[in-house]
Amino acid sequence: MTTNLQGKTGVISGGTSGIGLATAKILLEKGARVIIVGRDRVKGQEAATYLGSQAAFVQADLSMVRECQKAAGAILKVTDKSTPQTRPVQRQLDFLVNCAGTYEEERPEQITEEAYERVLNNNLKSTIFLTKELLPSLAKEAAIVNVASDAGISGNYGCSLYSAAKGAVVAFTRSLALDLAPYIRVNCVCPGDVDTPLVAKQLAAGSYTKEEMAAVYPLGRIATPEEIARVIAFVLSPENSFMTGAIIPIDGGLTAK
Ligand SMILES: NC(=O)c1ccc[n+]([C@@H]2O[C@H](COP(=O)([O-])OP(=O)(O)OC[C@H]3O[C@@H](n4cnc5c(N)ncnc54)[C@H](OP(=O)(O)O)[C@@H]3O)[C@@H](O)[C@H]2O)c1
Repeated sequence: MTTNLQGKTGVISGGTSGIGLATAKILLEKGARVIIVGRDRVKGQEAATYLGSQAAFVQADLSMVRECQKAAGAILKVTDKSTPQTRPVQRQLDFLVNCAGTYEEERPEQITEEAYERVLNNNLKSTIFLTKELLPSLAKEAAIVNVASDAGISGNYGCSLYSAAKGAVVAFTRSLALDLAPYIRVNCVCPGDVDTPLVAKQLAAGSYTKEEMAAVYPLGRIATPEEIARVIAFVLSPENSFMTGAIIPIDGGLTAK
């Protein structure tokens, strides 16, 4: 099925790296304009340059509500300049991908309040408050995709904080889908391990190899960022008009076990 996003404009938090960057690239190829958000200004500007003239970067640390507010303001300034005058000023965004997030591992007895703040704020608070701040700017038939994880569906070792954050993203998605129906569709993708800088960091810090990580997957490997991005692009697209509140595993069969 072709996924046409010609003329659509939207936001990808975490669009400066990994899954978010791959998603930005695919959405641009399908005709969309994208605004990517991340913390690191240099990385963000490099990503926007790589993506080309239909992409813009907004710098913000979305773990803080005031930064979500600031980001929403900056996003509207970008869209004000680039949106055709025929679109109402208040409803310029057609999609939002909440992909910003960080991963870390710890044993339950090692959990600290600081780790709780980091993991929950980067993964959950960013999703909730960027969505809240952008809601008035979303078009009537806009679509939202939240990026959770297989860890938000089933348990795994050493990542109970991360699981709690992603499980909450899953639950947030379902309720938000009800609140925003019948107009805005809200869905959630749950990737297994994906070959991104996040996983490179995880492997560098952990006691297991990429081969050991891959061995638990029925498909015998971890995903590429593009494999997740292609699903996100389809879930967002107008062709996917009857899906809302769905939690979609993209995990090589991991959670089918
Ligand atoms: N890779 C995997 O195996 C995997 C599996 C399941 C789910 N996920 C989820 O998929 C999402 C993307 O992961 P990835 O693997 O693509 O990671 P990545 O390459 O490390 O990219 C993470 C992105 O999120 C941004 N980010 C993180 N915290 C932020 C904050 N507080 N405010 C604004 N931006 C923030 C980063 O920007 P800066 O670098 O500028 O901070 C970066 O653009 C995450 O939510 C992750 O939990 C990943």
